[in-house]
Amino acid sequence: MRIVLMGMPGVGKGTQAARLRDALKVLHVSTGDILREAIQTGSALGKRVRESLDSGALVPDDLMAELITERLSRSDASGGFILDGFPRTAEQVSILDRVLETLSVKLDRVILLSASEDEIVSRLSGRRICPGCGEVYHVDNRPPGSAGVCNKCGSALVQRPDDTKAVILGRLEVYKNKTLPLAEIYSERGLLQEIDASGDQATVFEGLRTVLGLS
Ligand code: AP5
Repeated sequence: MRIVLMGMPGVGKGTQAARLRDALKVLHVSTGDILREAIQTGSALGKRVRESLDSGALVPDDLMAELITERLSRSDASGGFILDGFPRTAEQVSILDRVLETLSVKLDRVILLSASEDEIVSRLSGRRICPGCGEVYHVDNRPPGSAGVCNKCGSALVQRPDDTKAVILGRLEVYKNKTLPLAEIYSERGLLQEIDASGDQATVFEGLRTVLGLS
């Protein structure tokens, strides 16, 4: 299966994509994770994108075109993938169309996860991530066994620089202006399905399983 997961920052795309990856045995491609890894390793790409990520602005489309073309052309993407965080602009829809055409494959589904803005702010301001293994926690909804420490690798948990209130509000604006309009494009293509993502993680995943015919 080839799936795009879209929705507001913090709605749970990464959380649900990880569950879907395990259920479908396909690749999970998070453009945010790829960019954060580039920043962490200090690569040339990382140096170019750091400011955009920290401020909640989008990385330019030409850089994203290079990144996604390279990632989807690797052999581990040939069995299917879940795209989490791409496309985010109308230009990126065209970029993805071109990559898929080159690979002679098609998208099966675009899933829009929805929740209220209050829920989003609460999810993002309570999110903590493990810099060691990438595990994602929430101080209330998914706390680690020992406060501030990753269950899996024991590293000290951190808050993403873009998870402060001011940056969260800016990211929501970017989403409304640039990314939400893509729902209309995919709806016209008959690919879009919307899921209420305001419930707990297991309930949202059940909704996903149902629309994908996995139940
Ligand atoms: P990216 O990393 O993609 O950030 P985002 O879209 O803002 O999404 P998030 O990762 O913040 O949230 P999520 O929806 O994955 O939620 P999560 O599962 O973690 O992008 C970051 C930046 O990179 C962008 O701002 C931009 O600069 C750049 N970028 C990336 N892609 C780009 C592109 N294509 N073009 C240009 N620039 C790009 O969950 C959030 C929290 O809620 C967690 O704590 C989780 O435990 C909790 N939670 C999840 N589900 C539930 C639930 N059902 N109930 C309660 N809590 C829940």
